[in-house]
Amino acid sequence: MIDYHGLGLSLIETSHRSSEYDDVHESAVSGIRALLDVPDTHEVLLLGGGATMQFGMVPMNLMPAGGSADIVHSGSWAQKALADLRKLGTANVLYDGSEKDFTTLPDPQEIHPSDGASYLHITSNETIGGLQWKEFPKTGDVPLVADMSSDILSRRINVSDFGLIYAGAQKNLGPAGVTVVIIRKDLLDRGPDSLPAYLHYRTHASKNSLFNTPPVFAVYALSLVMNWITSEGGLDAIAKRNVAKSAMLYRTIGSHPEFFRCPVDERYRSDMNVVFRLPSEELEKAFIAEAGERDMIGLKGHRSVGGIRASIYNAVSPESVEALTEFMQEFAQRNA
Ligand SMILES: Cc1ncc(COP(=O)(O)O)c(C=O)c1O
Repeated sequence: MIDYHGLGLSLIETSHRSSEYDDVHESAVSGIRALLDVPDTHEVLLLGGGATMQFGMVPMNLMPAGGSADIVHSGSWAQKALADLRKLGTANVLYDGSEKDFTTLPDPQEIHPSDGASYLHITSNETIGGLQWKEFPKTGDVPLVADMSSDILSRRINVSDFGLIYAGAQKNLGPAGVTVVIIRKDLLDRGPDSLPAYLHYRTHASKNSLFNTPPVFAVYALSLVMNWITSEGGLDAIAKRNVAKSAMLYRTIGSHPEFFRCPVDERYRSDMNVVFRLPSEELEKAFIAEAGERDMIGLKGHRSVGGIRASIYNAVSPESVEALTEFMQEFAQRNA
């Protein structure tokens, strides 16, 4: 933190045009490219503004003014992407999960782009609802756009199937402050010249994501996380570990059906955010409090939905998940 590689000063204090930072920047970008096997047809950009800024940047760049785009409304995060899309054009909602309380997803094979749609947007993992696409719609010539903020680098994906992928870093990539955008190169020029420079993807691609001062520390941490994933055996090893972790929790929920209930359709249960309910809100409060006494924190479901949510991102160890399942069993036996 205070003396980067013997420089006598922190990386945070050095110029982002320094050779030290150049190496960090390249290592972060090449780490993402290598782990996700990003083909040469796609550019990797490091931007600011969080995934939230992409809710606006995607339609601004990929859809002509007053045009239309398709979107799957799968929950809280899709809702935010939908709201910004509606400010800029027409949203064709291909599937509206609100009718089923956002507990399931459409069959990907039944999702087809509409005539004239500029792109089709999905949220690969709904962080709050605990829903995850296991396969993706095939969209032909219409670019598939995915908000992967809460499951990027948790499993292998075929980047060529996507026109654009975006993800805020703070779940699986590093600290907040940097947002990864992977965009097919032919889409870089789609945005109108009237866009402010920062909001145009082309600006960032032409400057190797150094158009303005990047969040140096966040990019540095991201580069270290890429090294860590590699040292853990790469994406396939991480994916295997993630599936085993979530299976432990879903198994525990399933083995106490009178006490625990996961509202999510079994076909689309998330490997990142495992949500479940207890028989009453009082028991949920007691569960969270007792878990806290055992140093298990952050289990309270999102305020909009309540219940319990175990967010078991890449960095959560199998041992931690095992400790949670042991506590769940013990709590269920004591309170059933
Ligand atoms: C799926 C999803 N999309 C978007 C966001 C918003 O990301 P940010 O806070 O980086 O703007 C989040 C944040 O948790 C998320 O989980």
